[in-house]
Amino acid sequence: MSSSSNVSQLMLLLSVFISVLIPNALAGNFYRDFDVTWGDRRARIRNGGQILTLSLDKASGSGIRSKNEYLFGRIDMQIKLVPGNSAGTVTSYYFSSEGATHDEIDFEFLGNLSGQPYTLHTNVYSQGKGSREQQFHLWFDPTRNFHTYSIIWNFRKIIFLVDNNAIRVFNNLESIGVPFPKSQPMRIYSSIWNADDWATRGGLIKTDWTKAPFTALYRNFIANACVRSSRFCRYKFANYSLDAKARNKLRWVQKKFMIYNYCTDFKRFPQGLPPECKRSRFL
Ligand SMILES: *[C@@H]1O[C@H](CO)[C@@H](O)[C@H](O)[C@H]1NC(C)=O
Ligand SMILES: *[C@@H]1O[C@H](CO)[C@@H](O)[C@H](O)[C@H]1NC(C)=O
Repeated sequence: MSSSSNVSQLMLLLSVFISVLIPNALAGNFYRDFDVTWGDRRARIRNGGQILTLSLDKASGSGIRSKNEYLFGRIDMQIKLVPGNSAGTVTSYYFSSEGATHDEIDFEFLGNLSGQPYTLHTNVYSQGKGSREQQFHLWFDPTRNFHTYSIIWNFRKIIFLVDNNAIRVFNNLESIGVPFPKSQPMRIYSSIWNADDWATRGGLIKTDWTKAPFTALYRNFIANACVRSSRFCRYKFANYSLDAKARNKLRWVQKKFMIYNYCTDFKRFPQGLPPECKRSRFL
């Protein structure tokens, strides 16, 4: 074999290798990356795919789903939530695989009366089991501007971030028998719907339909993540972790803004807290 064909074979091999390794890091386009799954025209993509709006009126909410399935990486979305009186509405932004033993990573924003804080509800399901809620108020008004909501996900941990500040970490504690989402690729979902039977102050405050439609805005979706299950890609994100400064910020958020933590809800778990709670009070 001539050396030039050796070189071209090497180049081919390299390019295959590189295309497997390099994650999909392009800035998103809602036309290219998402399908509208319900709500018809209440979900609208504008500005050539740069902006998405999801609306809720008395007849229906609306929702989208990513075309790709992802397994590990960092995924960012900027959201501007329903302003004014949004009581009774829920805007969800979550990652989920399919089937009865699905994995799921949730952000849900529970609306409120004008001037009252939104609640950010988070949860992690592994192999079909959730019940790992943590709730927060935010240190800003999420309806005035876009803010960035992200997850960093590898086979060691899941980190929830708001404007690049970690607010929650779910560690892989398979070593003590806690299932961890690490093999089922997930799609990204977002929707807005009416949940006035429970969302705001436990359902006391109802949706005011005279204020409809309720609209949330989205932009700058970035998936620096592995599409489906590339054996090579997964290692690219394996070392994502928090430095000392980020851990301090996480403690600050948890101390000042966390309003519910399943890991301190002794009433709910009279037989004892879930095993992961003993190990990871903060991290
Ligand atoms: C709404 O505002 C009240 C009063 O400040 C607060 O207690 C509650 O956590 C807020 N969020 C929801 C979803 O009810
Ligand atoms: C991750 O960290 C390990 C050891 O801490 C190191 O050997 C490995 O090369 C790192 N991987 C990447 C992709 O940076």
